[in-house]
Amino acid sequence: MHRAATPAPAADPFAKCRDFKQAEEMIAQGIYPYFFPLEENHGPRVVMDGREMIMIGSNNYLGLTMDPRVQEAARKAIERFGTSCSGSRFLNGTLALHEELERRLARFVKKQAALAFSTGYQTNLGVISALVDKKTIIVADKGTHACVFDGIFLGGGLNSRVTMKRYRHNDMDHLESLFREMDPDPPKLIVTDGVFSMEGDIGKVPHLIDICERYNARLFVDDAHGLGVIGRTGRGTLEYYDAFDRVDLLTCTFSKSFASLGGFVAGDQEVIDYVKHRSRPMIFSASMPPANVAAALKALEIIETEPHWVRSLQTKGERMRREFQSLGFDTGESETPIIPILVRDDTKTFQFWKRLFESGVYANAVVSPAVPPDRSLIRTTIMATHSKEDLDRVLETFEKIGKEMHVI
Ligand SMILES: Cc1ncc(COP(=O)(O)O)c(C=O)c1O
Repeated sequence: MHRAATPAPAADPFAKCRDFKQAEEMIAQGIYPYFFPLEENHGPRVVMDGREMIMIGSNNYLGLTMDPRVQEAARKAIERFGTSCSGSRFLNGTLALHEELERRLARFVKKQAALAFSTGYQTNLGVISALVDKKTIIVADKGTHACVFDGIFLGGGLNSRVTMKRYRHNDMDHLESLFREMDPDPPKLIVTDGVFSMEGDIGKVPHLIDICERYNARLFVDDAHGLGVIGRTGRGTLEYYDAFDRVDLLTCTFSKSFASLGGFVAGDQEVIDYVKHRSRPMIFSASMPPANVAAALKALEIIETEPHWVRSLQTKGERMRREFQSLGFDTGESETPIIPILVRDDTKTFQFWKRLFESGVYANAVVSPAVPPDRSLIRTTIMATHSKEDLDRVLETFEKIGKEMHVI
């Protein structure tokens, strides 16, 4: 095959790829913690690198990806609707099953309507980009997930200009100071995560509601890590604060407690209708495949009818947080089954991760820019299906490595 001559480096769009050595260097040092393939997945136990490991870094909080009923629902949906919807919701990719899921989700989170997207990422991208315009000011917590900011950039690009302000993570005084300086007239939308994904702390929704009321703003909560995890019946941050009717828009992903892939937004009917017709990720991308819709629907049914899964997750999360703290680990502001172990040094975090891996425990190494540079951490996440034996072994392993590496 004829190939064109390689352009001179200065004119080559691929030159940066040749210069990119960071991953290679970490692999050479044996501390590269990313893209590690699972050879088998059994929920709290997985097989990696030919060995059985305890998984303490998954977002499968309720363990429902392994529930036979969820798996059977996915199989049946494939038999009935095939493996793909082959198009976007807008034209030819809406199934009766999508609409059933949306109706049931709206009821679950006590909103008028819901709309399902193909991923959680696309949900925030689609909702935010549809809502921003030249007038609207978006005010977002700095710790909010990347897809919210990508939604602002997408919307900003389309609408030529968007004003975005970011407040320090969960810092209500800083947020208030931004509002005091703002022109009171333009429409304003505050955006926060419900449960913050890396450190497991909870957005200060009651304060945000108060600020919204005083400054005439709307409130958007991304509860990807809240639904199925916090709140007495797993209805997330809005249930935790009893704030269902005071948060304007709620988004969530299906890739965590809902054991699937996809996401949804819930809110007032007119807002959902608008987003449905104005969101580019909704209109220009194929819809959630049948198996994913059916898996999310079955997971929702299980969350609603079997509250012991949520209770078990919460109880195990509380125990692990307490135990990590009593061993001397710094778990930051965590209040949920997402428990960060703060190491505060990138290299040491990668080394800690490697020692865990060698000891048969898989957690996540998280460094900047996913967290501020002084907050690199090992992210642990508890699952409802972890056994006491799994969790005891995790604690013993952390204690041993933590002492040897002088983290505790
Ligand atoms: C807070 C938050 N929002 C949105 C997303 C995107 O969801 P998904 O990975 O299902 O596309 C994530 C995923 O990591 C997340 O943590």
